[in-house]
Amino acid sequence: MHRLAMTINRNQPETLPARPQALAWVDRAPFFQAGLAGYSDAAMRLIARRHGCPYCVTEAMLDTLLIAGGRGLKPAYLTDDDHPIAGQIIGSEPGEMAQAAKILLPFGFDVIDVNLACPVKKIRKRHRGGHLLSAPDTAVDILAAVRDAVGDAVPLTVKLRRAFDDTDEMAANFHRIFEAVIGLGYAGATVHSRTVRQKYNGPGHRPFFAELTARYRDAMADGFLVFGSGDVFTPRSIFDTVRDSGLSGVSVARGAIGDPWIFEHAHALMRGEPLTPPTIFQQRDVLAEHFELSVSLHGERAAGRMMRKFGIKFSRHHPHADVVKDAFCRVSTLDDWRAVLDRYYHEDGPGTPIGQVSPDETGTTETCEVV
Ligand SMILES: Cc1cc2nc3c(=O)[nH]c(=O)nc-3n(C[C@H](O)[C@H](O)[C@H](O)COP(=O)(O)O)c2cc1C
Repeated sequence: MHRLAMTINRNQPETLPARPQALAWVDRAPFFQAGLAGYSDAAMRLIARRHGCPYCVTEAMLDTLLIAGGRGLKPAYLTDDDHPIAGQIIGSEPGEMAQAAKILLPFGFDVIDVNLACPVKKIRKRHRGGHLLSAPDTAVDILAAVRDAVGDAVPLTVKLRRAFDDTDEMAANFHRIFEAVIGLGYAGATVHSRTVRQKYNGPGHRPFFAELTARYRDAMADGFLVFGSGDVFTPRSIFDTVRDSGLSGVSVARGAIGDPWIFEHAHALMRGEPLTPPTIFQQRDVLAEHFELSVSLHGERAAGRMMRKFGIKFSRHHPHADVVKDAFCRVSTLDDWRAVLDRYYHEDGPGTPIGQVSPDETGTTETCEVV
């Protein structure tokens, strides 16, 4: 285990528990890239990996779309350099979720992750995502059905929010589901520190993480992984969160949009090295590569729409952020993109450290647009 993790992870036992190979990265780097609907496609994941991200989660894939096949399977296709990776499924009904998990296996996912976190409102009165935290029987049935379907083929994990809302009843539901996750042999869980009702309003409730790791200390000592999610926008906040909570690690979500360097900088912190913002030329290379990867995945038109929102986030590293942001807002084609790079990224120089970015400033809210 790396030295920094040894010193920051108070709850971690001296001897490391046995881990599934697919999750062994956690002993070297306590962070990964979260699922982000509408963002964390293969292009964003590959860029993150090239900057030191050890593990990625796909955006939530709706079970019924996977079952329907055809275009519904598009987000499940993986390249050889996109591992280790968790394929995340979301849905309402145990049988369909089990079927969806089985469909993902031949695509080569290293882990299957069950989404019990998405706050997007109930669809046709059916619970799914975070709404299942208010329907614990169904949530547990889904977890059990996925477990039965996958068997020991790959490790299973789950993504939850800390509760549906702040009532005692919902706190009890959370723990009932969490205990089932452990009892069913899931390898780990990622918990977003906001409630489902809270959506993205206000900060997450960080003290919940320490309560959680204290309560499930025995399971963690046996190897169960508990990750935190919420408000991780800087490399330092990765380690602050882990140190204060005893978590196994954290996921980087909005903080990774337009900032793949967050992973490189997290590694630099572990080595005790200073953090240097990406130079203009480093930014240009990543922007060019990200667009090309996006074009190869989605075609030029869709990539143009998709990359606009990335360009806006990337522009924060540029000394003339406002002008560059405006220019990215008008991009449609690969040529438009290249024109922005030629105009604003043609001369090298230091980039701007983006520091602490508040959730509001990121301007992104979860849509769980199902892909
Ligand atoms: C636009 C957007 C899409 C998201 N999509 C997913 C998703 O598909 N699966 C998932 O587990 N979480 C999803 N999330 C939640 C994030 O993974 C993360 O838990 C949340 O943003 C809190 O972390 P942050 O405050 O560091 O961004 C999404 C969040 C946003 C903003």
